[in-house]
Parts: sequence; structure tokens; C-alpha cells
Amino acid sequence: MEIPVLLDPKSRQSLQAQIYEQIRKLILGGRLKPGTPLPASRALAGQLGVSRNTVMLAYDRLAAEGYLQMREAIGTYVSFELPEDCLTAKRLASAAESHGQDCSARRPIAFDGRAQAVVNDRRLAYDFWLGRPDPQSFPIKAWRRLINRTLVTAGTRLTEYRDPAGLIDLRQAIADHLGPARGINVGPDQIVIVAGCQEGLNLTARLLLREGMSVAIENPAYQGAAFLYESYRARLAPVCVDDSGLCVDELPAEGAALLYVTPSHQYPMGFTLSLERRLRLLDWAWHTGTYIVEDDYDSDFRYRGSPIAALMGLDSHGCVIYMGTFSKSIGAGLRLGYLVVPKHLAGAARTAKALLDNGHPWLEQAVMAEFLAGGGYDNHLRRIRQSYAERRDCLVDNLERHFGEVTVSGTECGMHIAWHLAEDLPRAAELQALAAEHGVGIYTLQSGAACDFGGCAYSERAIMLGFSSLNERQIRSGVERIAAAVDAARHPAGAAANLSNPLPATQRTRPELIHR
Ligand SMILES: Cc1ncc(COP(=O)(O)O)c(C=O)c1O
Repeated sequence: MEIPVLLDPKSRQSLQAQIYEQIRKLILGGRLKPGTPLPASRALAGQLGVSRNTVMLAYDRLAAEGYLQMREAIGTYVSFELPEDCLTAKRLASAAESHGQDCSARRPIAFDGRAQAVVNDRRLAYDFWLGRPDPQSFPIKAWRRLINRTLVTAGTRLTEYRDPAGLIDLRQAIADHLGPARGINVGPDQIVIVAGCQEGLNLTARLLLREGMSVAIENPAYQGAAFLYESYRARLAPVCVDDSGLCVDELPAEGAALLYVTPSHQYPMGFTLSLERRLRLLDWAWHTGTYIVEDDYDSDFRYRGSPIAALMGLDSHGCVIYMGTFSKSIGAGLRLGYLVVPKHLAGAARTAKALLDNGHPWLEQAVMAEFLAGGGYDNHLRRIRQSYAERRDCLVDNLERHFGEVTVSGTECGMHIAWHLAEDLPRAAELQALAAEHGVGIYTLQSGAACDFGGCAYSERAIMLGFSSLNERQIRSGVERIAAAVDAARHPAGAAANLSNPLPATQRTRPELIHR
């Protein structure tokens, strides 16, 4: 057994005194319990690189003071009866513990943060939780086959460190995918494989941010980004969004250390940033020296029209860092995503990733590389895109069926929509509570993992509805129940009848436009 003793050859204390002092502290601190055998003096001397005599002198002193017992031919043990001062120290330590004053309470840690609400444990029967792929859609057969095949040839690749930026085959496959899909033409050297967008956000913050620097961010914004920047003690400058995406005119004239933006499908409102605004945004970033962090979390699901090129694809000045993830298209449990950085940041991003965790696990990378390169990923996307489009249509049709004309945003892309509640419906928080009483999960900005900085037009009257993980039957019943919940709140006496009646009294025509 080795014990944690570290000697400082430059210390003015003798080696023997250092060994004595450190073992005594281990005993007093309870890390070496009464009865624990100590390493033989020869073994400890070997571990510490000192003479055996030095260790024996330290052991002798500890034994003389009652900390150790030396039994001939058996070995050296921590005493069962420790000296009086040791017992006092132990009593003090346990008293402190019982008052909750352990070390962690006395030494404040530097980190101070809130966690985003991505884990949903509400377990409601009809849950329109956001951004969750259909669990049935996971390509299990292909994945199993690729894992087995990859393991056969794994060899040293599982036992050695790999390039911290990620497996070259995967980075190449991602580069090949991004050109046609997002208009981003880069080589694998500009790509770093990360554990989802969240690690991408952390890495970019590590590259670009220090305490007190300013971060421009959408309002409302994705909590995972807002809370992260907050934890860096950045100064957040929220910029409103409207139905053309980020309001570029409201960006701070002096620029910022970075701007976080979700142009394809604004989180949470679902708006798409118009091409005209994209170009003005890039211009602003170039002139103010701001880096743009483009979170393209769910753009694989575009249902209508051709996709607008990603900001990074339009950028000619190296201002944009692009983040992609497989959390939405395959599954969040994989923790697999990627950063695409401008050439001049590639070295720094690779180093930051190496310092963070020496690179992403190899096996999933190899499997994903094969899945992409062999065409499996494109086939998978085609299949689920079709099924999600049908679910989205089913959701909007049923909202109209029960609530008349409705205003919704975000239907062109992604896995959720935002429902803008008409004036005669309850406010979002109240509607969420009513629906939950009827077994249905619907989400306000706050409960739907968004950060509302205030002064935002959607705070009280937007409901977020994810549709990708529910089948059409569940979607129909879920919306029917929301309508019944609204009826029940309005007409408590006649509420029971409405669940079996698909056309409750809320049906009527409203003047709003339908954004679809
Ligand atoms: C806008 C946005 N970005 C990023 C993420 C998280 O992605 P990842 O699982 O890759 O960390 C989410 C998850 O819901 C999201 O909504």
C-alpha cells in the first residue's frame, strides 16, 4: 500500500521530520484509521527515494508519541489508542462537521453558476418537452453493427491517447457534410470534436472570455449559453428578437467579446434570421471586432424552402465560430458535437480541448465517422425529417382545430414551435399549470430552458411545444387535453364532458396570422 507523502527536498525541514509530520496529519485527519497497516520502512523508503534509516527514524518517533504501534515480525500499525491531543483534535473535527463547517464551507470555490433545465423529469402522460428526438428513431441496428465492426479493428486506438481535436476521419466526414448542408467550406483542421454544443460553448468562452467582458446575446436566449456566460462573470447585453430573428439594429455599437446567436431556428422562439440581417450582422462583427458564436443545434430539420447558408458560410473575415451537435439528430446521450473555428483559432481551440479532457472518447467518434461517410446519416435524417414534418403538421392542425386560428412560430425548421397565446387564453404560466393538471407538459420560456432577460415581447404569452418525441395519437390527445383544461378553468361545472368531445367550446376564429 502507498501512502500520500510528498517530500520537498528544498524544505528547511529534514526529510525525516517531513515524513513524521505528514503521517501524523494523515492520522489526525482520519485518513489513516486506527489499525491501518503502514508500508514497511523499506517500501516507503523506496516510494520516497530516501534511505530506509530516514523512514525508520520517523516511524520510531511516531511510535514513541503513541501514533503508531510496531509489532515485531508483523509490521507497523496506526495505534488504536491515540495520544490525548489527537483525541481532542478528532473531537473538534467531528464537532465542526456536525455544524456543517467542513472544508468546503470554509474555503469558497471560484465557480458560481446555474444549470440549464435540459433534464426533464416531469413524467407527464403527454409531454411536449423540447428538443428531444423520438427514442424509437435511434438507428440502433446500424449503430450496433458499426460498434462491433469498429471494435474488431480498434487495436491501439482504444489504449493510446488520440489527437485532442478528434478523430481525423470524423472531422473529414463532418467537413464533407457541412459543405452541401450548410454552405461551410472548411478542412478537418478547423474542426474540433466536442461533447455537444455545451462543451463547444465552454471552449469558445475559454478562448474569448474573461471576467467583466461583454457578451451580446439573444433575448430570450438558450439557458445553457446564458448561464454559462454568467458563470464567467461576463457582462450580458441582451438583444431582442423578432420574427426575422435577432434585431441587428439593437446590437451594441461598440461590439462585444462575443455574440451568441441561433440563426437557423432561434431558441426558443423558432424565428429564422433573414439573409439581409445575416449580412448586416457579419458586417457589424467585422467592424467591431466581435466574434460570433453560431449555435446551429437543430438545423438538420428544415421542412420548407432551401436553408439559408450558415453565418460561417457567409463570413469572409474569420469572425464566426460554428457549433453543431448530433444531440438532436441522433441522441443527446451520445454527447457528440463539433466546433468549426476560423483558421487563426484552430491551434488555440485544439490546445483548449487538450487541456480540458485530452480529447473525446474514440469509439463513438469512429462509429459516427463511418455512419456519416457511409451515407447512413443522410438516410437517417431523411427518414426522421419526414416523420417530424408530419408530427409538426399534426400539432398545428390540432391547435387550430381546438383553438381556432393560432399564431405559431418556428414551424419551418427544428423540433419545437412557439405558440403565441391569444389575449383570451390564460397567460403562459397559468396555461402550463392547467395543462399539467390534465397530464400534459407544455412549457413557458423559463421552464423550457430559455432565459428571459426582461423587456421581451414574448415573456408571458409564449408556450413552447416540442413535437418530435410524441406520435400523432399522443399529439392529438395532448392538444385535446389542453383545450379541455382551458374549458375546465372557464366553466368548472361542465368540464368533464369535454375530454371525450374533440371540439370543445374554445373553438372559434381569431384574427391572427398563422406563421407556418
Ligand atoms: C439552442 C440549443 N443549443 C444547444 C443545445 C444543447 O446541445 P448539446 O446536447 O449538443 O449540448 C440545446 C439543447 O436543447 C439547445 O436548445
